[in-house]
Amino acid sequence: MIIAANFKMNHTRASTKAYIDRLNCTELSHDVRLFVFPPATALDRYESIATIGAQNAYCARNGSYTGEIGLEQLEEFGIKTLLLGHSERRHIFNESQEFITKKFNFYKDQGFEIVYCVGETLEKREEGATYTYIEEQLEGIDLGYERLIIAYEPVWAIGTGKSAKGEDIQEVLEFLSQKTSAPLLYGGSVKRSNIAEILSIPKCGGVLIGSASWDVEEFIAMIEIAKEN
Ligand code: PGA
Repeated sequence: MIIAANFKMNHTRASTKAYIDRLNCTELSHDVRLFVFPPATALDRYESIATIGAQNAYCARNGSYTGEIGLEQLEEFGIKTLLLGHSERRHIFNESQEFITKKFNFYKDQGFEIVYCVGETLEKREEGATYTYIEEQLEGIDLGYERLIIAYEPVWAIGTGKSAKGEDIQEVLEFLSQKTSAPLLYGGSVKRSNIAEILSIPKCGGVLIGSASWDVEEFIAMIEIAKEN
């Protein structure tokens, strides 16, 4: 089972180090895998029980891409895991499917483990277009890639405190599992009070946690619940 923390634009290098030091004091059971995605400025070669990944990277080794980081910057810290297609990148920074696919293919060719996010907006859900929307987000993505993890994160559940209902998550995970054998995560307002229920959903291989993961004690509490599941 995968338990992943997406820091988004939170934490500094110093607080990320303190977070990881504290996290290292937890006992992991063999079936739990942790990921932490700090902001780019806090990437480092940490001694960590969690796999450290980047939240975003441009599809080039280096070059004239102001404000971006690329393969060279990730290699400096031995980073081989990348989050791609997050709804905040899609909707706030207007990343198109074509652009995300370019990044996906570049980092796939480098053998990166890729946590690839999909999820519908409230508008699409209400139109009954959830599946067509998710299909579009899978366009160009190699669903047979052996280092792929997919996170289903309905946009309306992210950072709102309102997680999707168990049956809705189950339906979408079923749909995804017909297309890929990649591990499937759920993300969107996962917290201490709902993590057990979410992890018990068939086909749910873990969770991608934003806001509730930023406090290391909360994150550890959720890992403990996951271990009992
Ligand atoms: P949230 O974010 O847990 O704050 O809803 C999840 C995510 O964006 O990955």
